[in-house]
Amino acid sequence: MSLLEVSNLCKTYPGKRRVMALDDVSITLKRGETLGLVGPSGSGKSTLARAIMRLVEPDTGSIRFEDGDWLALRGRALRQARARLQMVFQDPLGTFNPRASVGGAIGDALRIHNIGARHDRADRVAVLLERVGLSADHARRPITQISGGQRQRVAIARALATAPALIVLDEAVSALDVTVRAHILDLLVNLQQQEGIAYLFVSHDLAVVRAVSHRTAIMEAGRIVETGPIQNVIAAPASATGRALVAAVPRLITNPPAKEPAP
Ligand SMILES: Nc1ncnc2c1ncn2[C@@H]1O[C@H](COP(=O)(O)OP(=O)(O)O)[C@@H](O)[C@H]1O
Ligand SMILES: [Mg+2]
Repeated sequence: MSLLEVSNLCKTYPGKRRVMALDDVSITLKRGETLGLVGPSGSGKSTLARAIMRLVEPDTGSIRFEDGDWLALRGRALRQARARLQMVFQDPLGTFNPRASVGGAIGDALRIHNIGARHDRADRVAVLLERVGLSADHARRPITQISGGQRQRVAIARALATAPALIVLDEAVSALDVTVRAHILDLLVNLQQQEGIAYLFVSHDLAVVRAVSHRTAIMEAGRIVETGPIQNVIAAPASATGRALVAAVPRLITNPPAKEPAP
């Protein structure tokens, strides 16, 4: 059974230049699975991510999450359910209180969702920091005075704080340099193996998506134009957009990943 089922989502932004950012979009995600959502800039990826997060209201369509009508949730019920669906953005600085410490930022998530008693929050923060490869000492550092890679680890720790079933990552590693990016991708894969979290992993970069995804969905102009296991899509893209994305990363073809070992 699906963890997330997005069906026939449509969203047009009003204004002089009306843009149909989502045009009948349907995707599903199973527990513990990563769906890589890839497509050129402006294809509607962030709109889909934000609609799933209830940050953008779709015009029509439905979303089921953990067997409930996700778009019907309001008020207190929505605030409680939000613990199960977290998001990590490209630029975590924009989502943190700039005056917060690392520990304060993670502690806020615990407080807002009423997790643990007040006196044990510092211990919980330390455990979360260690789970993302930071030390408990980082808790005291100002959020503005750690590196971009460390800040993205803090954003992941904050997402993990509420024990989510799904984390939506929108261009979460796009601003990081190659080495730091590889470490964050490793961390995400390890966390998934340990805890069975599902990811909707949004990126314009097929090489990044390949590193973490089980399946991929390709978007173009508000529509899903192709879906399938990531290796199949890379080996034989069926859509023009898929072919263009594959062609943009030549090493995908010339340097395929290692095959599963024979039994
Ligand atoms: N708040 C908004 N108001 C009006 N148009 C928007 C808004 N956000 C995005 N768009 C438009 O919707 C389309 C999809 O944008 P977006 O979802 O950000 O795509 P992507 O994340 O794939 O780059 C683009 O044409 C973009 O200009
Ligand atoms: Mg985007």
